[in-house]
Amino acid sequence: MKPGQLRALAATILSKLLQQQGSLATLLERPSVDAQEFPLLQEICFGTCRWYFQLDAMLAQLLEKPLKPKDLDVRCLLLTGLYQLHYLRVPEYAVVNETVAATLVLKKQWAKGFVNAILRSYLRDKDEIASRALLMEPGRFAHPQWFVSRMKAAWPEHWRALLAANNEHPPMTLRVNLRRMSRPAYLAALLEAGITARAGILCASSIYLEAACPVTALPGFEEGLISVQDEASQLIPGLLELQPGLAILDACAAPGGKTCHLLESGFAFSRLVAIDNDVRRLERVKQNLQRLQLQADVICGDAGQTAQWWDGNQFDRILLDAPCSATGIIRRHPDIKLLRRPDHVLALQEIQLSLLKSLWACLKPGGLLLYSTCSVLQEENSDAISAFIACTEEAKLEEIPAEWGVECQQGRQLLPSAQGQDGFYFARLRKAPH
Ligand SMILES: C[S@@+](CC[C@H](N)C(=O)[O-])C[C@H]1O[C@@H](n2cnc3c(N)ncnc32)[C@H](O)[C@@H]1O
Repeated sequence: MKPGQLRALAATILSKLLQQQGSLATLLERPSVDAQEFPLLQEICFGTCRWYFQLDAMLAQLLEKPLKPKDLDVRCLLLTGLYQLHYLRVPEYAVVNETVAATLVLKKQWAKGFVNAILRSYLRDKDEIASRALLMEPGRFAHPQWFVSRMKAAWPEHWRALLAANNEHPPMTLRVNLRRMSRPAYLAALLEAGITARAGILCASSIYLEAACPVTALPGFEEGLISVQDEASQLIPGLLELQPGLAILDACAAPGGKTCHLLESGFAFSRLVAIDNDVRRLERVKQNLQRLQLQADVICGDAGQTAQWWDGNQFDRILLDAPCSATGIIRRHPDIKLLRRPDHVLALQEIQLSLLKSLWACLKPGGLLLYSTCSVLQEENSDAISAFIACTEEAKLEEIPAEWGVECQQGRQLLPSAQGQDGFYFARLRKAPH
């Protein structure tokens, strides 16, 4: 690669992100770097997002005046440079040389000396600059102020731990296909393969790896012995009162983690319908079903437009794993810190309510609907459920008797934990019998 090319690409990706032109996952899908360079590009992009608000507080001290909007790429380049200098063990001279060279790749010749000067000023005074960056909350907690304020108000006892967990690297968690193998047997297989792991505590199927590894290195992955899935998500089947003969609808199913887990429970359901409105993501449901040797009726459709796909036969169970802000999985997707804004949250709540209202008609009297999100925001969780119950006479909230999580006004919330599960919310709604 040309000098500076990788850094220029990282800066371009970050500026697109800040202009809401995609997520890190989509922007990193087909990057023009060699395979061996990709991990560094990914590390720079993810790390800069994870620490963005702190790095921004450092940069503010180094700039005499803010950069013009047309030079967003230069600002992003500086942020990625500060990230590498502050958080990575790349030699300082290499970071400075490559970042300066990136100005030419970005066709910002004028910024060559400027970037050099800013990074060198940081290096001269780094401890002082880093400690001043911690004076204000966004820098101290590395989150946007609106989110810090909401977390303080919503989780007065937990907000500090929650924000700290969001800044950690997430663990890699597996779900053992208990139809095919027991957890102790799979832990033994991992040990034999030289992979250190421990059993999870919330679910009988969960395993935490000490260090992430490619799935191809995991014994029996291709054969369907295990899947990668966070432990919180693995609680779903246990909350749905599963039994043989049930008709089940998974209304927002892609990429199929929960669909497959429901089927792995081994009950002979009368049918399991998996719907999603994203054709590309739905392909992954099919791939997962195939790998795990499971079967479901997979339909591409809008869960809110039931006339499109519903045959009129009601379901005994509905899982609505709703589209949400994903604020419970920030450690896996640190770009959420940059992408989400308060106005998105109410728009999401409207979508969630409308999905609940449409799908309710598809539930049999006496049936159970499990609503879940990977959000830690009350608006999408307790408030959405309160609003739904308020306008749906035959909906009754059922308690979730559990040792885990925090009981909310409505439903139960798991908060992200540093070495444990993601943030996740659950509410069980029973439809009154005839
Ligand atoms: C939280 S993800 C679901 C994750 C999935 N349950 C799993 O465990 O793998 C939410 C999904 O809802 C889908 N979605 C969003 N709006 C939808 C709609 N109106 N109808 C159907 N699916 C929708 C998205 O494409 C996305 O795949």
